[in-house]
Amino acid sequence: AQLSAFDSAWDGPMEELPAAIRACTRCPLHCHATQAVPGEGPRDADLMVVGEQPGDQEDLAGRPFVGPAGQMFDRIAGEAGLDREAASVTNAVKHFKFTARGKRRIHQRPETPEIDQCRWWMNAEVAQVQPKLILAMGATAAQSLTGKGAGILKRRGTIEAGPEGIPVLITLHPSYLLRVPDPAAREEAEAQFRSDLAMAARMMA
Ligand code: URA
Repeated sequence: AQLSAFDSAWDGPMEELPAAIRACTRCPLHCHATQAVPGEGPRDADLMVVGEQPGDQEDLAGRPFVGPAGQMFDRIAGEAGLDREAASVTNAVKHFKFTARGKRRIHQRPETPEIDQCRWWMNAEVAQVQPKLILAMGATAAQSLTGKGAGILKRRGTIEAGPEGIPVLITLHPSYLLRVPDPAAREEAEAQFRSDLAMAARMMA
């Protein structure tokens, strides 16, 4: 599918975009989440970093990548020479999707209709920032930005065309690194993630 960043029908003033995202009721995910989490970072960033959806801690804090996945991202970005503060950081889906198990909220992967509904906001954020490069972390970000989510392990480290032809560098999701059980395999996945972040850092230099 040909996706366009500028297909988003949201045409309000750009400074009102975060508030518009916070007020979103476009899909049922807003019913259970604490709040929507818009992107943050410089509005003219050269690099846009895109994850899947807010996790438990992001849902409570209202900010992207502040929990365990964010700490993993920050550590490896530091090792790779990638400056998070200079990037715009957001998620393909703005509300936390979970099932309640007792007091715990267990993450559930967003499905295609939710990703499709939320592309409205993803596109508006891309149109606002107009980055030189988008880093798509994991299948949901890749699906939102390129129309295809399958095959991330084979696609990672490569560049594909995203909205308005903006290059999208595909990489692993930092939560994936936290879940690889075998230590050697985890180290290998971390090395791949580090190498992709270093590639993004070089492209920003
Ligand atoms: N995982 C994501 O994809 N995004 C976040 O903001 C936090 C965890």
